Amino acid sequence: MARTILLLLLFLSSSTTTISTSKRTQQKFSAIFYFGDSVLDTGNNNYIPTLAVANHVPYGRSFPGRRPTGRFSNGRLVPDLLNEKLQLKEFSPPFLETELSNNDIITGVNFASAGSGFEDKTSRLSNTMPMSTQVNLFKEYLLRLRNIVGDKEASRIIENSLMFISSGTNDFTHYYRSLKKKKMGIGEYQDSILRIAQASVKELFNLGGRQFCLAGLPPFGCTPIQITLSGDPDRACVDEQNRDAQAYNSKLEKLLPTLQSSLHGSKIVYLDAYEAFMEILGNPAKYGFTETTRGCCGTGLREIGLFCNGLTPICRNESSFVFYDAVHPTERVYRITTDFILKNAIPQFN
Ligand SMILES: *[C@@H]1O[C@H](CO)[C@@H](O)[C@H](O)[C@H]1NC(C)=O
Repeated sequence: MARTILLLLLFLSSSTTTISTSKRTQQKFSAIFYFGDSVLDTGNNNYIPTLAVANHVPYGRSFPGRRPTGRFSNGRLVPDLLNEKLQLKEFSPPFLETELSNNDIITGVNFASAGSGFEDKTSRLSNTMPMSTQVNLFKEYLLRLRNIVGDKEASRIIENSLMFISSGTNDFTHYYRSLKKKKMGIGEYQDSILRIAQASVKELFNLGGRQFCLAGLPPFGCTPIQITLSGDPDRACVDEQNRDAQAYNSKLEKLLPTLQSSLHGSKIVYLDAYEAFMEILGNPAKYGFTETTRGCCGTGLREIGLFCNGLTPICRNESSFVFYDAVHPTERVYRITTDFILKNAIPQFN
């Protein structure tokens, strides 16, 4: 009898351990929040008066229900895919969406805005939401979260959440074509963007965030639109832009440990978006891509946003294209990128 009870107890305690362990591995974060540009924006721009929108066909051609949602791609984006892989939910709802459920709020929302940058001025050109506005929206979000779960639970959720930040491409692509280039060298401009990036992390830390993933710049010199603007008949990537992106990335990667130690209790992880993307562009055949320098939409040379629409011809098989429009990757690329994030960045969080 005693032996049976002992065995039963052993069995009970070991199964309890199994459940709590598997629950912990399932849900690494209580919630994930996204801040940045069109690579992350799942539809916030649909709710603000900007022309930088993708809520029309042929965007969303492979999205569930073949629905254009404002995502600048044929299907889902990294925030959707990462939320799914980390067992939170299938999508990443835009905070500006009018009918968010309590559960949407509790497991994290998306503040990204296509066309935006770290710098306010970048976003002013496209009338989109810069990082400063996105961080302010997070304050509004906090009020809603506290109303639903109370102050104490809200703090716990934020503390155990992940803040995912990816921006800067629009700042630099505008910089190359602005008068600022004459007044400020690229190194100085990189430093000014890095100051804004650091200030944004600090502000989110002061609002309770502890775990951050900061993406470096992708090789934006390889986007079809930048290649087209460079005028190269061979359609090679724009070297100058890629070199500048890498220089910015090394500065960012270097300053993060210092930032982390200045924000007590924080964990700040660098995401090498440049490498993630170059792995694909450098080995397209390995991943089944046959077209790397043109988008699937129209000629693929310059169509983006409103210029990629229902009247634009579209490629037959988007799965063989790296780019869906002249700037944005296809869902297949985002899936590969998500795997890269899961392998390289996520394990660095406890
Ligand atoms: C589309 O492209 C993908 C990736 O190259 C390939 O695996 C698939 O077979 C293609 N589908 C069709 C219908 O050609």
